[in-house]
Amino acid sequence: MSSTTEGARATHATLTIPGSNKTAELPLLNGTLGPQVADIRKLQAQTGIFTFDPGYGETASCESKITYIDGDEGVLLYRGYPIDQLAEKSTFLEVAHLLLYGELPTAAEFESFNRGVTMHTMLHEQVRRFFDGFRRDAHPMAVLCGVVGALSAFYPESVNVNDAREREISAFRLIAKIPTITAWAHKYSTGQPFMYPRNDLSYAENFLYMINAVPPEPYRKNPILERAMDRILILHADHEQNASTSTVRLAGSTGANPFACIAAGIAALWGPAHGGANEAVLKMLGEIGHKDNIPAFIAEVKDKNSHTKLMGFGHRVYKNFDPRAKIMQQTCHEVLGELGIKHEPLLELAMELEKIALDDDYFVSRKLYPNVDFYSGIILKAMGFPTTMFTPLFALARTTGWISQWMEMIADPSQRIGRPRQLYTGAPRRDYVSIDQRG
Ligand code: SDX
Repeated sequence: MSSTTEGARATHATLTIPGSNKTAELPLLNGTLGPQVADIRKLQAQTGIFTFDPGYGETASCESKITYIDGDEGVLLYRGYPIDQLAEKSTFLEVAHLLLYGELPTAAEFESFNRGVTMHTMLHEQVRRFFDGFRRDAHPMAVLCGVVGALSAFYPESVNVNDAREREISAFRLIAKIPTITAWAHKYSTGQPFMYPRNDLSYAENFLYMINAVPPEPYRKNPILERAMDRILILHADHEQNASTSTVRLAGSTGANPFACIAAGIAALWGPAHGGANEAVLKMLGEIGHKDNIPAFIAEVKDKNSHTKLMGFGHRVYKNFDPRAKIMQQTCHEVLGELGIKHEPLLELAMELEKIALDDDYFVSRKLYPNVDFYSGIILKAMGFPTTMFTPLFALARTTGWISQWMEMIADPSQRIGRPRQLYTGAPRRDYVSIDQRG
């Protein structure tokens, strides 16, 4: 392959297929940040071959203006703003406006956006009955998948995905209702009555109210937990074209309604390799139990036959620290300190495990560092959440990123139905054999 240059950067790459007279001229496209991409949309027409990239690790599936990650430098930007600045200075609902519309809101814009979301926090009374169909011990991610997908039955107009106003209303409904659904999934598992949303509380506080309050007791706000919850939501809000976001985009590319697309994203996030890792980290720490057992656990991870992973470590893009993990660790110390928890064995064990792993060439050589899930579970446990609620909280926050990505995709005039190709290695053509001729 050769390239054509114009100034410092190449403008085209040429791919010639040896033994044939076929050559493809691949335009090299430049983004605002990050590496160039080779546009291969005409590759098959020009050469007759496809590319092969299982897991799409080397493939840009779309053009996006929402989030940017530099995996080598450990950088994460939401619409250009560094995640550490947003986590320190912003609020989740302000970040939601930023992700959806591309800009931090003015005071008037925020007031209008906040009111718009607040007006959609309630669920149709018949939605309550969906919860009764689940066993009390159903995993809350199963409840989120089912209830979010079913919402499309209550908003038939949401199928008009080409109507910008309908798209915006669906976005508001999803951002507003996902905290209610998540809180009610928890309440249902405990047998406690559902708490209705309150319009006088902030987004994070309203969620904490719905999940913690009980009718006989006055609710006492906790600014420490509110700030921690808001920051955790900001850190989980969006993250480029990860597995669940790509699922939402692929579902959306067929014209499916936004509730069905977000339900698909929730299903994809559930996996332990993705959003389910925060729950898996707590399970892993529980199984290790004591720092004396860390060397044996690390040895097990290195043994490929064990299929044991160091959960909360590694990332497809970050080959340095996940910036969210650093902020999460800082938040962990703050929340534990402010809650007066002086001795948290799980945090001490996690820090010892991180220290040992980062001194071990097996992890360093593979560029395996803590990701967002390594510390989040410890904070959430300290805040009183059961481990089964960790991934639903991730889904709550990521719903804003998913719907922002969905809105961007639907409005993109160049978007087409997603339809990857394959490398076929199955049987060549053969004729049917009747059963009495087989064997
Ligand atoms: C999230 O994509 C996103 O942006 C996701 C996310 C988001 O915000 O949306 O950031 C959220 O999903 C974070 C990741 C949470 N998952 C975990 O913590 C689970 C543990 N991590 C691994 O399963 C893994 O690191 C992945 C799935 C996250 C990434 O997998 P990759 O990119 O396919 O890595 P790989 O399998 O190519 O690993 C390269 C090597 C392999 O060893 P070798 O074959 O080269 O000998 O590293 C090893 C892997 O076996 N490896 C690990 C490991 N992760 C990778 N070994 C032990 N423990 C691990 N955690």
